Amino acid sequence: MTATFPDLLMSPRLLAPGGAPADHGTHEERYGPLAYGDPEALLRLVAESGLTGRGGAAFPVYRKLVSVAESGRRTGRAPVVVANGAEGEPASRKDKTLLRLSPHLVLDGIQVAAAATGAQEAHLAVEEGASALESVLTHRRDPVPVKVVRLPKRFLSGQSSALARYVGGGAALPAYKDPPIRERGVGRAPTLVQNVETLAHLALIARYGPDWFRSAGTPAQPGSVLCTVHTPDREVRVVEAPFGTPLHRLLPLHGTSAVLLGGYHGTWVPTTEAAELTLDATTMGAGVLAGLPADRCGLTETADVLRYLALQSAGQCGPCHNGLPRMAAAFRTLATPGAQGTTRTDIARWSGLVEGRGACHHPDGTVRLVRSALTTFAAELDAHARGFCTATAPQGELTWTSA
Ligand SMILES: Cc1cc2nc3c(=O)[nH]c(=O)nc-3n(C[C@H](O)[C@H](O)[C@H](O)COP(=O)(O)O)c2cc1C
Ligand code: SF4
Repeated sequence: MTATFPDLLMSPRLLAPGGAPADHGTHEERYGPLAYGDPEALLRLVAESGLTGRGGAAFPVYRKLVSVAESGRRTGRAPVVVANGAEGEPASRKDKTLLRLSPHLVLDGIQVAAAATGAQEAHLAVEEGASALESVLTHRRDPVPVKVVRLPKRFLSGQSSALARYVGGGAALPAYKDPPIRERGVGRAPTLVQNVETLAHLALIARYGPDWFRSAGTPAQPGSVLCTVHTPDREVRVVEAPFGTPLHRLLPLHGTSAVLLGGYHGTWVPTTEAAELTLDATTMGAGVLAGLPADRCGLTETADVLRYLALQSAGQCGPCHNGLPRMAAAFRTLATPGAQGTTRTDIARWSGLVEGRGACHHPDGTVRLVRSALTTFAAELDAHARGFCTATAPQGELTWTSA
């Protein structure tokens, strides 16, 4: 039987219940067939829904669709849609989970995005699970054909211009900002890059409309969002929750000293602060929520993440080439009990020098993590400077640092 509107008000909206992948029959039974009006009507629905991107930056989807559609009309070139399933963020599992459990919802969303922009070509780019998705595609008759693209496993593969470059036959490296890919991306055509979760929400908005979408979440941040939750006892789960949900309902805070919000490009907050926060698009980045067990050293964990981020940079721009390795090495000094000299002020100064100076936001995300660590772990920094560390557990083996 086709799922009714009220059934779908219940969370989860996106993930197939029971943890089993939904085949096309089950998918249509649950959500009903995909039907949508003309591009203008579709764009109105998206505008009214208030849907924002779920790939990290929470950019309004309506604005992106309109600007790609306009570029297509202006240049006379049909746009290209790229579904971003890279999930290069090591602490995130939500996109892989969505693609495994509800691939048809993402594929429906690609068709909706193509209809709204006038695209004739579409790609679904993933680092894992490409063969399974190719087999899912054989069960569909889509108006716009979708090709699955296998991405190299790198943090930067999912950055939108790197993705567009790779899909177009180049290297998976970010391009310089001008012209933006919404004007010239894959094969020099206007290109829409949208996170796979964003597209899954789009597929539901096309079916059930903006009022249904807004029946979850808050007026300012409507809808639900997928989160990857890392509990202090090393359990990892992907949950869907409405914006505005208190964080402590998703992540058990007992036994943690701090929480990482948003992943490797995210922010540390002390547990006492996290206890007062709700799910918020501006802080949640790609939806990662990780509790730091109270017996761990947040500085050492951050130093490990910074080392990873410095190694993952494409090294094309000065801030990444010079700044990130230097900051990562200096942070390791802070993470090691003993004399720190001017290291703290050096890192603060370098943060200001690299911020906003890269061709992509990799340095900015890295600086965000560094600054929040210096504040959240200020007491631990002082302890290290006096030659001791309060952590009692061995380092490593945290689920979110296993990159
Ligand atoms: C270094 C870097 C890595 C990124 N990796 C991903 C990724 O793996 N997946 C993703 O959806 N977006 C990623 N993004 C964001 C994309 O550039 C882009 O904003 C996003 O895919 C747009 O989709 P959305 O508007 O639906 O969120 C990354 C951005 C940066 C700066
Ligand atoms: S800022 Fe860094 S990651 Fe981004 S393009 Fe430049 S070198 Fe590459």
